[in-house]
Amino acid sequence: MRRNLVHPGAGQLKYEIRQIVLFAQQVADRGIPITWENIGDPVQKGEKLPGWMKEIVASHATADLSYSYVDTQGIPETRAFLADAVNARGGTRVTPSDIIFFNGLGDAVSKVFGALRREARVLGPSPAYSTHSSAEAAHSGYEHLSYRLDPADNWLPDIEDVELKVRYNDSIAGLLLINPDNPTGAVYPREILAEFVRIARTYDIFLLCDETYANITYNGAEFVSLAEVIGDVPGMSLRSISKDLPWPGARCGWAEVFNQDQDENFRSYVRSIVDAKRLEVCSTSLPQSVIPAIFTDERFPLHLESRRRMFEARANEAYEAFRGVDGIRVTRPRGALYFTVVFEEGALNSNQRLRLDDAELEGFIEVSTEEVADDKRFVYCLLAATGICVVPLSGFACDLPGFRMTLLESDDAKRAWVLQTIAGAVSDYLASGTSAGEPSIEAARLRR
Ligand SMILES: Cc1ncc(COP(=O)(O)O)c(C=O)c1O
Repeated sequence: MRRNLVHPGAGQLKYEIRQIVLFAQQVADRGIPITWENIGDPVQKGEKLPGWMKEIVASHATADLSYSYVDTQGIPETRAFLADAVNARGGTRVTPSDIIFFNGLGDAVSKVFGALRREARVLGPSPAYSTHSSAEAAHSGYEHLSYRLDPADNWLPDIEDVELKVRYNDSIAGLLLINPDNPTGAVYPREILAEFVRIARTYDIFLLCDETYANITYNGAEFVSLAEVIGDVPGMSLRSISKDLPWPGARCGWAEVFNQDQDENFRSYVRSIVDAKRLEVCSTSLPQSVIPAIFTDERFPLHLESRRRMFEARANEAYEAFRGVDGIRVTRPRGALYFTVVFEEGALNSNQRLRLDDAELEGFIEVSTEEVADDKRFVYCLLAATGICVVPLSGFACDLPGFRMTLLESDDAKRAWVLQTIAGAVSDYLASGTSAGEPSIEAARLRR
């Protein structure tokens, strides 16, 4: 090409949650059945949308207008409904024009970062849900800037680290938080949120809060929305129906924008996001149209509550399965759909392996793990030995070695097998590097 076609940020577009699938397919091609523990799709893992919700969707699917375009920002009635829901939280107030629909939050994230001026950076958590960290890095053309979530403190943000980074880097124009958090399962108490608001106010920057898992908290955690604490600071929260109904295939999420009237520059930025949406006409209409009917149905709060109990039980089951294992650190999740294991410093080395009973597969793993991060090597070995596909923590913009699995397997026996098998594989793997690199166990026997 006479001109370079490649965007300077193209190399930053990494999404390990799906990239690991490419490797898993190669393992599958060698005859290993795969148990997918990489992606947060409750439906693929066996959860059923309740019948009453499907009936509401079906009744809207027979209405002719469900097949039309709608307003660029979304269906006015649904936006009015969601604006009322924000105002009912008792914090900052919004109008329907502060609600913007997207084709899922994946689309929202790409628009929110894509519309930012290149030099305006957003400081985000590490580990981070990689759609955010990759989109931010790609928009700027540089590595994502991050603050530390502390595994020794229930994965809460290191506020001093946040403030120092904001104070000494004036390219930082916004702060990203994910609450409840993917991948750590942390839920931020009101005081932590208030600290983010204080920092944003002090340094004149905006807040971006991903609240995808707002309705999935447990183990005593109380969810506090950004709207309740943000006061007059400009910001936005992101919400979705992907994980609550759950309907990830709807590709339906929205932004709640706060305090546009407080800052002309922030208002222009939000307007540019809506202008970018306008070029696409609008987001998918049918999922938007069912939101008021589903959210106001008397069965909806019961549905959310029973899911909280279900994920609480699974989070505790995962915690119990791993907490006695040497060489790792685990935290009891309090929200979202994931469980994260961190290897202790120095626990991993390049001699560790899980023994395989297939020489060809062993050779393939040997070559594939030559130049990968330590935690990814474990993940590859786990895949080959057991067929279980988890995501290395290094894929979440994170220096800590570890991995993330989901709490989504709905078959109780299979979930128990997955937990026991991974916990056993961690022990075996860590023990294997101790005697001159000779794998110490027969992990292949774990395979199903
Ligand atoms: C924190 C977080 N934000 C956003 C998304 C994307 O959600 P959506 O299905 O609305 O694109 C996910 C999906 O897993 C997520 O975990």
